[in-house]
This record gives sequence, C-alpha cells and structure tokens, in this order.
Amino acid sequence: MKFPVLMLGLALSIGALTGADAAEPPIVIKFSHVVAADTPKGKAADFFAKRAAELTGDKVKVEVYPNSALYKDKEELEALQIGAVQMLAPSLAKFGPLGVKDFEAFDLPYIFGDYDDLHTVTQGPIGAAILKKLEAKGIVGLAFWDNGFKSFSAKSPIKTPADMKGKKFRIQSSKVLEEQMRALGALPQVMAFSEVYQALDTGVVDGTENPPSNMFTQKMHEVQSNLIMTQHGYLGYAVIVNKKFWDGLPAPLRGQLEQAMKESTDLANRIAQEENDRALEGIRASGKTAIYEPTAQEKLAFKKQLVPVHKTMEGRVGKDLIQSIYEVTGFKPDSL
Ligand code: LMR
Repeated sequence: MKFPVLMLGLALSIGALTGADAAEPPIVIKFSHVVAADTPKGKAADFFAKRAAELTGDKVKVEVYPNSALYKDKEELEALQIGAVQMLAPSLAKFGPLGVKDFEAFDLPYIFGDYDDLHTVTQGPIGAAILKKLEAKGIVGLAFWDNGFKSFSAKSPIKTPADMKGKKFRIQSSKVLEEQMRALGALPQVMAFSEVYQALDTGVVDGTENPPSNMFTQKMHEVQSNLIMTQHGYLGYAVIVNKKFWDGLPAPLRGQLEQAMKESTDLANRIAQEENDRALEGIRASGKTAIYEPTAQEKLAFKKQLVPVHKTMEGRVGKDLIQSIYEVTGFKPDSL
C-alpha cells in the first residue's frame, strides 16, 4: 500500500503550494514621482510605502520611483490613465492637460499668504470638491500634500519685475503660470522638471521658479546665481490613483491604505516648511547662488504686477472658485 500513501503526500504538498493557505503575492502599487527622495513629497511617498506594508500586513507593496526614473511630468499622467502606474503626486500646476482647470487656482500669484490660508482650501470643502472632479477622468484624488512657496531665481540678479523682462523662465504646464510670467514681461517656457537643470546650465532658459527644496535637491543653485525670496506662489501636490484599480481593491485593504495616506499627508504637511528651510540654508551654504530678501517696497512692486493675473485668468480657472478662495482666506485683491 505504499503507492497511495505516496500519492497522498504528493497531493498534500501540491495543496500546500497552491491552496488557500499559500501566501498570496502582494498587490503592487507603482508610485511614480519626479522629485528627489529627500524632499517633502519624496519622504511622504516613502512613508506611505512603509505604512501601507505595515497596515495591510504586506498584502500591498508600494514601489516608489522617484526623480522621473519611470516617467517625466506629462508621461506620468498618461501612464496613470492607462494603468501602467497606479499612483502619482503631480504638482497642482500640472492638472490642466487632464482637463480639470480648477487646479490652476493654486497657481494664482499671492492668493495664499501662508500655509494656514492654503489649508483652509486644501483641507476643506473647496479642496474636496476639486479632487472630486477627477473622477470623471478615471482618477481618484486621495489627498493634498504640501511643498511650499515658490521664489524666482535666475542666472542674473533680480530685484524688480523689470529685471525679468525679456528673460526666458521655465514654468510648469499651467496657463496661470504662463500668464504670470507674461505679466512680468518674461518669456515662459513649459518644460519637464527633469530637464530644468540642464536647461539652466546650457542657457536654454535664464531662470525658473520653485520652492527651495526643489531647487536644492536638483542642484539648480549650481547652475544659476541669484534667488530672490518673492514667495509669490504656492507649489503643492494632489496624490492621485487610477480609479479602476482603486475601486477594484478589497474594501478592507482600501481602508488600510486610506489610513496610510492620512498619516502620510500629516507627515508631508508637517515637514514641508522645515525641509524648505533646510534647503534654503543648503543653498546659502553652497555660496553658489546669492539669496536676496526683497524690501517691503520691492515685494509690493511684484504684487502689484502679479495680482491682476487673478482677473485675467478668471475665465480659465472660474470666477466663483476664485471668489470662494478669497472668502475663506480673506485675501482682498483690491487692497494693494
Ligand atoms: C516642478 O515641475 O517644478 C515641480 O512640479 C516638481 C515637483 O513635483 O515638485
């Protein structure tokens, strides 16, 4: 009777390999982004990967691809829509091509005085309504993550708007940013983030705008000479996921991932300011880019030239949306 016993043993070991007890391979989420790991977004994405593994008991594996390793700005949105990646956190200035122009309200110069103003929008009903609009595009908006306030930088000194006249400035793909540069007499050039260092180095552009963290971690301070702390606009992110993928997840896993996202959002928004402060010190310490703090008078000159962009862009961004932001932040465009 040796034969049946052998057969039984074989059947049991095959069962052990394929049966209900066998460890299921994890569900993989590819999370692509364009900045360095050592930035507010990079750190929050890595933290999300860690917490997703912990909270789901390794049932979900988040693979983070930083620094445009997989895709550049425009390509990553296409990749998300076709499901080649599942998660992204593009800057709010990059949603126009998806057809949701409301996101460009975040690019309006000086519309947010500080992070508190901004959070009344991103953490409140206005932000939720904007994220909701993505669903018609096959995308779910999970959260807003902070970076910080942008300043102008260039290969020559800037103290007044006149210093930017006729110069080529790299921008993200936002029509509001295009108008912002035109309002200063500068020439906007849309370009992927991954190409900015080289464009500055070779003189394809004369300058750019970004929060210190992005400038420093891409070493832009090595290929330009002057930074003026205009802090004229906000740069932050929406974390987005492919809707079909998200809706197809088992509900308990989705809940655990939502929890991981909530904790990552808290982290991103807690570290953003200090990461930018640290990067600014790094730029200063390098001695390669001079940092200029404009006087109140000089700041006002930029504001006067840039705030009218709100009116010019009403047609694109939505007059009601702009008004509702003014209401919650208390910003008064006519008080300048
Ligand atoms: C940029 O293109 O300058 C930024 O959007 C990069 C980023 O993701 O912070």
